[in-house]
Amino acid sequence: MRAPHVFIETFGCQMNEYDTELVRSILKEKGYRFTDAVETADVVLLNTCAIRENAHNKVYGHLGALKPLKKDKGLVIGVLGCMAQNLKKDLLEDDSLIDVLAGPDSYRSLPELLEKAAAGRKGMAVDLSEYETYADITPDRIEGVTAWIAVMRGCDNFCTFCVVPYTRGRERSRDFDGVVREAEALAASGCRQVTLLGQNVNSYRDGARDFADLLLAVADVRGIERVRFTSPHPKDFPEKLLEAVAGHPGICKHIHLPLQAGSDRILQLMDRTYTRAEYLALAGRIRARCPEIVLTTDIIVGFCSETDAEFAETEDLMRHMEYHSAYIFKYSERKNTIAARKYADDVPDAVKSERVTKLIEFQRAVSLKKNREMLGKTVDVLVEGEAKRSSDRWMGRTDGNIVAMFPKTSTTRKPRSLVSVRITDATITTLYGELV
Ligand code: SAH
Ligand code: SF4
Ligand code: F3S
Repeated sequence: MRAPHVFIETFGCQMNEYDTELVRSILKEKGYRFTDAVETADVVLLNTCAIRENAHNKVYGHLGALKPLKKDKGLVIGVLGCMAQNLKKDLLEDDSLIDVLAGPDSYRSLPELLEKAAAGRKGMAVDLSEYETYADITPDRIEGVTAWIAVMRGCDNFCTFCVVPYTRGRERSRDFDGVVREAEALAASGCRQVTLLGQNVNSYRDGARDFADLLLAVADVRGIERVRFTSPHPKDFPEKLLEAVAGHPGICKHIHLPLQAGSDRILQLMDRTYTRAEYLALAGRIRARCPEIVLTTDIIVGFCSETDAEFAETEDLMRHMEYHSAYIFKYSERKNTIAARKYADDVPDAVKSERVTKLIEFQRAVSLKKNREMLGKTVDVLVEGEAKRSSDRWMGRTDGNIVAMFPKTSTTRKPRSLVSVRITDATITTLYGELV
């Protein structure tokens, strides 16, 4: 009998990409195969995101498109990830397309759920765990020079706008030595860059050992040339961590430092636990220790009751910070969050749109300026592979995580992983250069 073929589509953040690798590993073990063509699949899994309304809508769109396939050949459809929790009710409806629901802590039960679904019984596993870290499961990675390791899962911060603490549950860290051993195994298989992942990666802790210790230990693994991490929270930046980032040549000089808003009143409503002044002081400390650091951020505009003057404070802070790049979002109310329960989502959508556009335009100009400052410089680039839209170029990233491309000099051989590139051109998102 032909082994069942699975098609997986991943939405959302890097943690979800990582979880897809875990799911592949769990299913492969049970004899499942994978396909890149949905038409040849027996099982379709959508690993979903719930962070904003449009993330939800994307998944509903995909589900609708699967309807004919489901009818014609009895496809099994599973919804995994952060949206699974919210879909409980839909699943129970008889005409639902979904056969299986599995939340982020329930992937070990997927094989059983899929087996039952193949026999016509719908099922779900959406309990959150205080312990699950999948530490014993080696993700089924696409081999390359870069890899992710999830070192902690969950979030205890409960920023009032955010659904993550409800979809991913409580914070828990993987054991220190296990992470280091995984990095060693990755290095042995040719990996050169590891990105440590967590919803709050810098609150990692295993006994007496904290995130700075872990970063240093992974950066010291022989063969690993670069270590990155995402996403940190501004509340957990002790001197020790800054010292590690500034002092170890293997730790990338890039920090994603989500700001969210520039007004103290809004920061407090969001329960971010820092003030504007504290954030600025942290950024100042980081830049003083490590002048070449690349700082990026996340911003939410139009949070409950945000006035024009408060929005202007975000604008002002961005002008002061000059981030290398920024993700800018309209506030999207999520069911059951503290903000949804306590505050009115009262900034009109048109105003949110205006604010987003304004900040995006501002940021584009800053990003271009920053990238143009690199013209003529020679930088180290870790080559990841062929450029997506042009097969005559290699694509990689600078230490600061900026995408860099350069022409192939030989059509057959991929260059060494870490190369020197002289920058000759720059756009808002990309540096172009030549091998030196
Ligand atoms: N743990 C990470 C963030 C994960 S979510 C951190 O704290 O930095 C990624 C980004 O999505 C957040 O930084 C925030 O800017 C945005 N976001 C989260 N909830 C949102 C919501 N309800 N509406 C709009 N943007 C949101
Ligand atoms: Fe969400 Fe805040 Fe946790 Fe980030 S720190 S995942 S924004 S609750
Ligand atoms: Fe989305 Fe869940 Fe990640 S809500 S951003 S997939 S943690």
